[in-house]
Amino acid sequence: MRSDRFPRLAGKVVLITGAWGGLGRTFARHLLASGARLILSDLAERPLPELADDGALPAGWERGVLGQVAADLNVPDGPRQLFEACRGIAPVDVVIHNAGTAFIGHYQDIPVDKMHLQMRVLLTAPMELTHLFLPGFLARGHGHFVFVDSVAGFVATPLGTTYSAAKFGLRGFAMALAGELRKRAVDVTIVYPFFTRTAILKSPKLGDAKVPVMPRILIDDPDRVIRTALRAVDRRRLHVWPGFYSKVLWQAVRFWPVVSSQMQPRSV
Ligand SMILES: NC(=O)c1ccc[n+]([C@@H]2O[C@H](COP(=O)([O-])OP(=O)(O)OC[C@H]3O[C@@H](n4cnc5c(N)ncnc54)[C@H](OP(=O)(O)O)[C@@H]3O)[C@@H](O)[C@H]2O)c1
Repeated sequence: MRSDRFPRLAGKVVLITGAWGGLGRTFARHLLASGARLILSDLAERPLPELADDGALPAGWERGVLGQVAADLNVPDGPRQLFEACRGIAPVDVVIHNAGTAFIGHYQDIPVDKMHLQMRVLLTAPMELTHLFLPGFLARGHGHFVFVDSVAGFVATPLGTTYSAAKFGLRGFAMALAGELRKRAVDVTIVYPFFTRTAILKSPKLGDAKVPVMPRILIDDPDRVIRTALRAVDRRRLHVWPGFYSKVLWQAVRFWPVVSSQMQPRSV
């Protein structure tokens, strides 16, 4: 692991959701290397030494993990239980909304409960958690919300309809929130990864949709994506396109709005 330093994040208490997933644990390792203190949240707790599996961490890094909280963001009380558990650990300075889940398939093949699951985990749980943490951030005069969005939050993605809906929604929410908070000492950063090498790329396929295989050369490296994201967080940037394809597609949708296949002429 190449470790950059993110000076503004040193000493900060950072909550990471989806902390044991591919991007979550990469966030955790880079933040620990920078001297941040972490609360790790996911569906289940995991043995801490697993964090060191993917690369060197500074001596004594375990002390940087203040606690783990198992919380299911798909259940109505999940965000509040997570918030209350964090209150019992330490005042949080930065929330990284990173938990995610995906299904691939034609919209008619996605069961309605899976549609709601995606909307909750990717959109309404981050909104609710933000609602819970924001008063404390405003009262203390600082805080930072980081939303892990996706290129699917600005390029509508066939076979990922609900995922795209949730990520478009998350981008809209985060941008509007940033507008409200512009003069109020609370920061917002939105990260738009392209396909990145994590477990989410092996998401279950529902129905019989033909899913194109993404050439490996196009898939981004989690370490590079997260270093770029954290550099932007450290500099208090609003938007971060952490890779070549993310940047290119952002420009493409701005200057060539027919980039999505749903705009192509019908063949039948
Ligand atoms: N990798 C990519 O290509 C890519 C591209 C763009 C955006 N993103 C976004 O990046 C974020 C992180 O994804 P990733 O790539 O690191 O995927 P990942 O490895 O699958 O990690 C996702 C994490 O979220 C957790 N999670 C799932 N459902 C949850 C729930 N109901 N409550 C709490 N936690 C839950 C997962 O736990 P379990 O493993 O136990 O299910 C997992 O630890 C997501 O928001 C994703 O949409 C990823």
